[in-house]
Amino acid sequence: MTAQHPRPYGVEILGSGTALPERRLTNADLETMMETSDEWIVQRTGIRERRVADWASNEKTSTLALGALQAALKDAGMDASELDLILVATMTPDMPTPSVSCIIAAELGCTGIAAFDLNAACSGFVFSISTASAMIQSGMYRTIGLVGADCLTKHIEYSTAGRSSAILFGDAAAAVVLRRNDNDTSTGMIAHALHSDGNGSKILLIPADRNDHPDPESCDDRELNRVYMNGQGVFKFAVKKFPEVIEEALELAGLHADEVDHYICHQANARILEAARKRFGLDESKLRINIDRFGNTVGASCPLVFDELRKEGAIKPGQRVMFIAFGAGLTWGASLWQL
Ligand code: UT7
Repeated sequence: MTAQHPRPYGVEILGSGTALPERRLTNADLETMMETSDEWIVQRTGIRERRVADWASNEKTSTLALGALQAALKDAGMDASELDLILVATMTPDMPTPSVSCIIAAELGCTGIAAFDLNAACSGFVFSISTASAMIQSGMYRTIGLVGADCLTKHIEYSTAGRSSAILFGDAAAAVVLRRNDNDTSTGMIAHALHSDGNGSKILLIPADRNDHPDPESCDDRELNRVYMNGQGVFKFAVKKFPEVIEEALELAGLHADEVDHYICHQANARILEAARKRFGLDESKLRINIDRFGNTVGASCPLVFDELRKEGAIKPGQRVMFIAFGAGLTWGASLWQL
């Protein structure tokens, strides 16, 4: 369930990149679509605007994922031909099959290499970067392109009935390129704590069938294939598990909270993040909140923060960063890295 790691090889994060849809959906726009207000949204969530993919213009999970991975490869100064695995964290693939990773591998000319998607909802990137690191640390793979990509807005009802989810979610993709470090085995993931509890599956889901819905009798066909969220239930779960899993990863690594330089957190709600920041007495510079500009971008949210900090030069070699997320499933986890 949780573990510290033998590390025959180190892992470096060589590059990162982001791809965002063009269209901005502001709180003022939402005011024209449903009964809500900018004040309510900012106060309850911290969100001011989010991006929405335009599928008609071919903006979708795979095209954003491709853009993000290309940007990360460019940042790393690497060619796609150097990748030996492409891993995409997503719960919103373009279609059930083929996987987003296979689609983008073909676009990059990477035929023949391993490519697969991993679905752990909003925790997808944390689960994936832990998986990718373990695969490199064990010697299975040398160079992995890892993308967090989601377009959840296609499952949102933009009306007063769906307003508690409509205000929250945005679309995005962000990627990192990981490579085996033969010289310094201390680099890479130093502890992880990944968890799930399917008993909580009914508080956040996208029902495919009436029987999936927590209340099948009342379920209307228009609710199928749309996000169902018990907002308060998710909020309570997150406020409890978020600090718990941070503490667990710190304990496994034998570190204090102030010995981690950056907490790269899933951006679900600014209030949840502020609570964690206060709980651990962290300076604002250690826990970036960018939800105001992008909303909750599901699997893209952690790498989006990471890329932003990296481009600003705030992330430096030798630092420690912890990736933390929670989401549907229920799932929650942390992955602590030595850069
Ligand atoms: O990655 C994980 C994804 N999900 C989350 O992290 C969600 C966590 N939960 C939350 O962030 C919050 O629960 C929400 C922001 C979704 C909702 O905030 P809340 O303070 O829990 O509101 P609530 O659901 O208890 O609703 C309070 C009131 C209700 O009206 P009544 O019944 O008191 O008259 C809602 O109908 O606010 C109403 N409401 C809204 N009003 C204006 C719900 N959504 C909206 C809205 N604008 N968008």
